[in-house]
Formats: sequence, C-alpha cells, structure tokens
Amino acid sequence: MRKIILYIAASTDGFIARPDGNIDWLHDKKYNIPDEDFGYTAFLQTIDTTLMGRKTYQQVMGFDMPFPYPDLKNYVFSRSEQQDTEHVSFVKNAVVDFIEKLKEQPGKDIWLIGGGQLNATVLNAGLLDEIILTYIPIVLGKGIPLFSADTEEHKLKLIPTENKLYRNGFLQVRYSC
Ligand SMILES: NC(=O)c1ccc[n+]([C@@H]2O[C@H](COP(=O)([O-])OP(=O)(O)OC[C@H]3O[C@@H](n4cnc5c(N)ncnc54)[C@H](OP(=O)(O)O)[C@@H]3O)[C@@H](O)[C@H]2O)c1
Repeated sequence: MRKIILYIAASTDGFIARPDGNIDWLHDKKYNIPDEDFGYTAFLQTIDTTLMGRKTYQQVMGFDMPFPYPDLKNYVFSRSEQQDTEHVSFVKNAVVDFIEKLKEQPGKDIWLIGGGQLNATVLNAGLLDEIILTYIPIVLGKGIPLFSADTEEHKLKLIPTENKLYRNGFLQVRYSC
C-alpha cells in the first residue's frame, strides 16, 4: 500500500509557523547552501498526491508565485463548502474514510504537507506512515504546533539510516509511525 509521509520543517521548539501563519524564519537566506535542496527534489519523485489543511492551502496561495504542485493530485480539507479549482479538490466529509480509500488506490506515496490540524487528524486516525522532519536551528517561543493540541500520544521509531545534519544547522530526521 502507498504510504502517507509528512515532509515538513519545524523550529527546534516544534512550531511550523509563527502564530499568524508566517514562515519567513524558514526561508532566511542565511540557511542557503548552493545546490542543496534538503532532499526536496528526490522526495517529490516519490509522491503523486498532496494533502493540505485549508489554512496551509491559503498560505500557499498567498505566495507570490504560481501554484507549486500543478502536476500532482492535490486535496485540501475544509469543513465548509469550497469550490474546486484547476489544481485542487476540496474534501469536506468523512475525511478519514476518504484518506483511507486514497491509500488503497494504486499510485506513488502521498505527501501530507500539513499543517498542524490536518497532521493531527491523520496521525490520530493511524494513517500516517512516516515523518521526514527538518529541524531548523531556531527557537520561536510561540506559534502553530507541528501537531495540534488534540493530538493523541503516539510513539515513533527513528529510521537510523535516514538522518542528515546539514552544515547550516538543519537536522533532518526520518521516523516511522
Ligand atoms: N513549516 C512547514 O514546513 C509548514 C508546512 C505546512 C504548513 N505550515 C504552516 O502551517 C500553518 C497552518 O497550520 P494549521 O494547523 O493552522 O492549519 P491546517 O491544518 O493547515 O488547516 C486547518 C484547517 O483545515 C481543515 N481541517 C483540518 N482538519 C480537518 C478535518 N479533520 N476535517 C475537515 N477539515 C479539516 C479546517 O478547515 P476549515 O476551517 O475551512 O473548516 C481547518 O481549519 C500555515 O501557517 C502554514 O504556513 C508550515
């Protein structure tokens, strides 16, 4: 069965965005390493579908650039009625059922983009297979957590061969759930 993989970056204190959703701290130029994309291009080759919470989708749409995943099947989750677009389909009802069925379909792996609320839904439902987490060397103090407050306790297994320390201080760890 295809896997659902959360590929995401977080501050060292576990936040994925500032309280207002801003991720400027993530794209600080001081973290640039020439010709290094922290495994992003290689990861993209392994997936054909994305899952996003509505707030993350809105954040993505706020970037001053074209929709970044036009060649992938993109699903956005919202409890309110939303109009599908050229690039994304909205999912409102029976979210867990929907994701379960998606996993059963043939295809490449599925990228859970986030954010913290959708991450909690997928983890609590037992549908998350792996996490590729890049810790950014910054303490934010407050913000949107990697998993929202309604997340249930869940033990992870480190995949020892898949961890990487970059010279800019990024630490990338891979867990199976
Ligand atoms: N650091 C990173 O790499 C990274 C990656 C991804 C996202 N982010 C950041 O994360 C922030 C957003 O995270 P977030 O936790 O606030 O929100 P989120 O998970 O992106 O979106 C939350 C919304 O998704 C919908 N939703 C969530 N669970 C649902 C369910 N079970 N059923 C139906 N709809 C559901 C609801 O939409 P409605 O309110 O419309 O009902 C909910 O308000 C953004 O600022 C984004 O930039 C950072």
